[in-house]
Amino acid sequence: MMVSEPAPLGAALSPALRTQTRVALLLWPLLVTYSHLVSAQELSASSVNGYSLHPPYFNLAEGTKISATATCGEEDTGRTVQDLYCKLVGGPVSGDPSQTIQGQYCDICSQGESDRAHPITNAIDGTERWWQSPPLSRNTEYNEVNVTLDLGQLFHVAYVLIKFANSPRPDLWVLERSVDFGQNYQPWQYFASSKRDCIERFGQRTIERISNDNDVVCTTEYSRIVPLENGEIVVSLVNGRPGAMNFSYSPILKDFTKATNIRLRFLRTNTLLGHLMGKALRDPTVTRRYYYSIKDISIGGRCVCNGHAEACNAKEPNNPYKLLCECQHNTCGLSCGQCCSGYNQLPWKPATTYNANECEQNSFRSSG
Ligand SMILES: *[C@@H]1O[C@H](CO)[C@@H](O)[C@H](O)[C@H]1NC(C)=O
Ligand SMILES: *[C@@H]1O[C@H](CO)[C@@H](O)[C@H](O)[C@H]1NC(C)=O
Repeated sequence: MMVSEPAPLGAALSPALRTQTRVALLLWPLLVTYSHLVSAQELSASSVNGYSLHPPYFNLAEGTKISATATCGEEDTGRTVQDLYCKLVGGPVSGDPSQTIQGQYCDICSQGESDRAHPITNAIDGTERWWQSPPLSRNTEYNEVNVTLDLGQLFHVAYVLIKFANSPRPDLWVLERSVDFGQNYQPWQYFASSKRDCIERFGQRTIERISNDNDVVCTTEYSRIVPLENGEIVVSLVNGRPGAMNFSYSPILKDFTKATNIRLRFLRTNTLLGHLMGKALRDPTVTRRYYYSIKDISIGGRCVCNGHAEACNAKEPNNPYKLLCECQHNTCGLSCGQCCSGYNQLPWKPATTYNANECEQNSFRSSG
């Protein structure tokens, strides 16, 4: 194995833990490590916030459908191909001398050989195995690769954590979300190595301070070339936004955190200034060092229950993967989005910190 560096997050989420059921996996170790990602109010009571009830956070990435538009060792048609790649961290010291080409540590991806395959499912299986994209030596069009997670239903997402493997973090990319099961995608956050790239690629507004709950910003701190391996990206979608301390009263932030699908839209790999050297980009001994690799994707989120459920475990009889809110306050439906029949005395409302907005039983007069 080429990569075996222990990482704090990996340690917190042991493989044994990861194999437990999706529902039982409450990311407490993760929440403690990354507690700054969820606002104090959200954390102080995991399930009750005044009169507003919330199911716990868990890792939505565990057990979801994931796909990538391109993978190392695999042709677009799905056929196995052998891709030679090299690591940016060079020198015979970093690997087996027999796998060293001109001082670079190199290896082969091949979908058909289990120890050389790097399928995208490696990114959510809780192991040290990783997904890898085709090196640009196969074709520079592999600068653009999409990785898509299909969560299967609508969730509130608080943060996204990505751990990279044997390559640097991407230079330029967009985190996107869909709320209509993948029909349309919209940007959630932009990533570039300089403010200038942010402005040129994504617009002037993306580098301004967050003033609205749904502002889409461009971050430069996660596109640096170092570390060359095992870098991390932490995206908080709640923290730092005006509505974070008053989530139950912030309809715009509630909408901004919703997603049924999440897409990592990679646009340009990080290079050792290779993008400044036109010729270098046609040199395979250089471009076989440029690709994306991901060891783990974790998504902290919870069911959308409108403040009317403390748990989200109930299974739909004909779909064991779907999670349903265990509705209280006389509410019913997948997301407690309506009053139960016979409880329509008042119109349905989401619960807030100061009012449960319970549905009330029909009075005799109105039903008679
Ligand atoms: C990635 O997804 C976007 C939409 O989110 C699409 O426009 C683009 O063509 C996709 N890229 C690839 C390489 O499939
Ligand atoms: C939250 O918002 C509501 C409605 O705007 C307001 O009454 C309440 O004081 C706010 N709470 C906090 C903690 O800011």
